Amino acid sequence: MTIVAELRSDHLNLDRLLDILNAKVAKLRAGTRPNYRLMADAVSYIGDYADQYHHSREDALLAHFRGRDASLDDLMQQCETQHQRLQALSHDLSDVIDSILNDTLVPMDQLVDKLELYVREQKAHMAFEEQQIFPQLERLGQASDWERMLAQLPRNADPLFGEHQSEEYVELYRDLLQDMTP
Ligand SMILES: [Fe+2]
Ligand SMILES: [Fe+2]
Repeated sequence: MTIVAELRSDHLNLDRLLDILNAKVAKLRAGTRPNYRLMADAVSYIGDYADQYHHSREDALLAHFRGRDASLDDLMQQCETQHQRLQALSHDLSDVIDSILNDTLVPMDQLVDKLELYVREQKAHMAFEEQQIFPQLERLGQASDWERMLAQLPRNADPLFGEHQSEEYVELYRDLLQDMTP
């Protein structure tokens, strides 16, 4: 798999979790009580994976291509800003869920608004990369770029996503689906 194909595959797997959380938003708005522990697991899983692995690979990839094309440079700047914002939103959402788990009273609307915003921005960010950044990288990248990147980029010894989904991901996905069935 090429690096861009790996990133796309990460997106697909992340998107599946985000879709369930999106459906969750609708259920919570309709008055269902959430399983907070499971929601906390899903948010921290997506946040950890995205921030610590997926985004750091993208940032390194973008750094490699910086200076090649003015329009790509501009898109990369936007991309980095989005990574920072997503990290902040993820922490913010986790903090709210943690407070609830620690018995602090938080209005349900506040939690659901934050969850909805996080899911929406994550999805928009991935669409932005897929529609605007990845095609440019594929257009500009030569075989030598991809060889260097393959050698340089951090790799996960125990891939969470990619071709082989980790046990943790599979379990979390199954639990989320189960939690959604009435
Ligand atoms: Fe990204
Ligand atoms: Fe991405």
